[in-house]
Amino acid sequence: MFPTKIYVKRRQQLQQKVKSGLILLLGNEESSMNYTDNHYHFRQDSNFLYFLGLDQAGLAGIIDIDNNQTILFGNELTLDDIVWTGPQPALTDLAARVGVTKVKPKNAIASYLKKARKKGQAVHFLPPYRPENKIKLSEWLGIKINGLCSLVSIPLVKAVVALAAIKSPEEIAEMEKAVNISGAMHVAAMEYAKPGMTEAEVTGKVHGIAVSGGGNLSYPIILTVNGQTLHNHYHGNVLKKGQLVLGDFGAETAMHYAGDITRTFPVAKKFTAQQKEIYQIVLEANMQCIKASKPGVPYKEVHLLAAKIKTEGLKALGIMKGDTDAAVKAGAHALFFPHGLGHMIGLDVHDMEDLGEDLVGYDETVKRSSQFGLRSLRLGKALETGNVITVEPGLYFIPELIDRWQSEQKFSEFINYKKLKAYRDFGGIRIEDNVLITKKKQRVLGTHIPKTIKEIEAIRGQK
Ligand code: GLY
Ligand code: MN
Repeated sequence: MFPTKIYVKRRQQLQQKVKSGLILLLGNEESSMNYTDNHYHFRQDSNFLYFLGLDQAGLAGIIDIDNNQTILFGNELTLDDIVWTGPQPALTDLAARVGVTKVKPKNAIASYLKKARKKGQAVHFLPPYRPENKIKLSEWLGIKINGLCSLVSIPLVKAVVALAAIKSPEEIAEMEKAVNISGAMHVAAMEYAKPGMTEAEVTGKVHGIAVSGGGNLSYPIILTVNGQTLHNHYHGNVLKKGQLVLGDFGAETAMHYAGDITRTFPVAKKFTAQQKEIYQIVLEANMQCIKASKPGVPYKEVHLLAAKIKTEGLKALGIMKGDTDAAVKAGAHALFFPHGLGHMIGLDVHDMEDLGEDLVGYDETVKRSSQFGLRSLRLGKALETGNVITVEPGLYFIPELIDRWQSEQKFSEFINYKKLKAYRDFGGIRIEDNVLITKKKQRVLGTHIPKTIKEIEAIRGQK
């Protein structure tokens, strides 16, 4: 945990921004996997962690702005609980660690909220994403579950986004740790993978490193020879020489700050000539887009820069043709780059995505596009000092998408479908780093993770 004063300051800042009423912050409950007592690994709500810091199930907090007090609601363990869980600190002691002096039993929250609403106090709450918390909100506030969404407090969402999007020095230090554990996972995958192994064997190896780092995975591991499928969680394929392994995985630290790194390496000791050509285009986009990410620059522009670099590169290989700007404006490049260049990252791998992608990544000046590819960009607005973002360009050859577009002769003025035949089984390449926006420029977080062809082949050639 951070020092107490950090949580106190964050809540003060939140109060100042929201101004009146009360703010209800729901921690998460244990979540059952296949029967009540068999739980998924517990993950606290990130907003609760940010303002109230406590990493245990069954808590809720109220920041009563009008009465200038914060109350933690939760139940002390019974002796019966302690038999199974062991002794835990008293709630009053836990609360004191985050500067909260008032603790009440969990069942007192409904009457607190009822009284407040009777007095005309507004109850600000964030979009709930877990069923248990939807039910609680519905019962406590007397709102039907399907009506909760429209009553979410937009001023509260905006206040949380404004605060949490700017990372403090101690958060940056945690994120640096997360990237370093994630980097160790990637180097281990490159060192360990051999032809004949399954994807699952390599996946198990890297998962262990995340756990050894004191936290866990920040999202389910993508480690696949079918990198053209963007969120591919199947790990049953056997690695064969000539294929590429796309690994998109990262760790979160014990404090839950996330790393999100992607590397692509050959199953063989070396990339093929064809793989090298595509790899080099993606690497160029990765490096140029990192350099272009600066305070004041809309990230949508950086995404479009990636699209242009890739279009130019594919034109040089004869896969695309025509005017680059016109191809990118029309969205022809999205056949090979159907996702966004990146997103904010912090306590969540897609930071604050529970609050609404558009409220986090867009604003009055930059609106979300509806064009295929560009519409998947989660962050479009101008970058600010203190943001931490991912830069993750990729190139993919998705047979199903190619077939559809080819049958429609879609963008045939920009795409050479004949040439694409030789790339049908290519797979995909993505290279992703986590980048802090500094006062004037940017800095890639963590120690360098091998990413040039030379660096990767040096590791792959070691065996
Ligand atoms: N790491 C997966 C993603 O960013 O979607
Ligand atoms: Mn990512």
